[in-house]
Amino acid sequence: MEAEKETVVVTGGAGLIGPSLIELLIPKYRVVSLDNYFIGSEKNHIKGAEYIKGHTKDIESLLGNESPAIIFHLGEYSRVEQSFKDMELVWESNVAGTFRVLQYWKKRKCKLVYAGSSTKFADGGMGRDQSPYAWMKASNTELVRNFSNWFSLPHAITYFYNAYGHRELSSGPYASVIGRFKEQYWKGEPITVVAPGTQQRNFTAANDIARGLLDVGERGYGDEYGLGSSESYSVLEIAKMFTDNIVMLPERPGNRMDSIVDTTRALHEFGWKPEQTVRQYIESLKKDRK
Ligand SMILES: NC(=O)c1ccc[n+]([C@@H]2O[C@H](COP(=O)([O-])OP(=O)(O)OC[C@H]3O[C@@H](n4cnc5c(N)ncnc54)[C@H](O)[C@@H]3O)[C@@H](O)[C@H]2O)c1
Repeated sequence: MEAEKETVVVTGGAGLIGPSLIELLIPKYRVVSLDNYFIGSEKNHIKGAEYIKGHTKDIESLLGNESPAIIFHLGEYSRVEQSFKDMELVWESNVAGTFRVLQYWKKRKCKLVYAGSSTKFADGGMGRDQSPYAWMKASNTELVRNFSNWFSLPHAITYFYNAYGHRELSSGPYASVIGRFKEQYWKGEPITVVAPGTQQRNFTAANDIARGLLDVGERGYGDEYGLGSSESYSVLEIAKMFTDNIVMLPERPGNRMDSIVDTTRALHEFGWKPEQTVRQYIESLKKDRK
């Protein structure tokens, strides 16, 4: 008889990075996703995983019968500039919701992997205070670390850098930078770049991040697992990889200039390196233009 697979809970399993992680988990684990479909979509469901619709605030009542070996906590509000106007939503997801996830973790004493944001390291460390999103994400890394110390719980904290991939949103208020550029390029419209355009980003493929996340989930302990590409491009350079037909938009609050990428732990402990480049990805999107 086949041995029963361990269960893994992924919050945010229907978003951008969650499905790439679930694809890697599914051969080895029983996977249960909790997503409220605020940004997530059923189109991102991976065959074999179980999907529960709901807010992380209700994790105990929705997933009360589960005893996961690992919780990957990705299900949070995840937009920088929009977080100013969505403050209440961010608080509900990233403070109230995350607190319930941590309580769920404490009760089960399993391992928790937290999806931190590189905004914590932006602009020489100032980035953590530059937007409601950045501040709540940075504070949560401290809360996760403290929960781990206070209650002797295993944890690992990862930091992602501007993920891209075919599941990213390309329209609407929550579209990602590359998703929006792709859509504008495909429609033959000018690409809109938020001033100054010189802000540097380390765009990293969601699949590459997911590989690192799995390593961290299975073998990593503690803080500082940066999962980002060392290649850095300004947003204007990214736009120019599509076209020279560019229009500048006024500057927006929360828009950091750059982040320091440190992938030392993931490289030394697991040999993790990104395998894809954003330039190749954009070339493939340009070929797909209808
Ligand atoms: N994408 C990036 O560049 C990046 C960078 C740094 C950190 N992160 C973090 O990594 C995680 C995953 O990123 P992503 O790009 O896949 O984000 P995403 O927004 O595409 O996915 C997050 C998913 O969580 C769901 N969700 C949000 N709040 C929820 C809640 N309260 N309860 C249940 N589900 C909820 C959304 O519907 C969505 O499907 C997020 O926590 C994000 O903050 C992402």
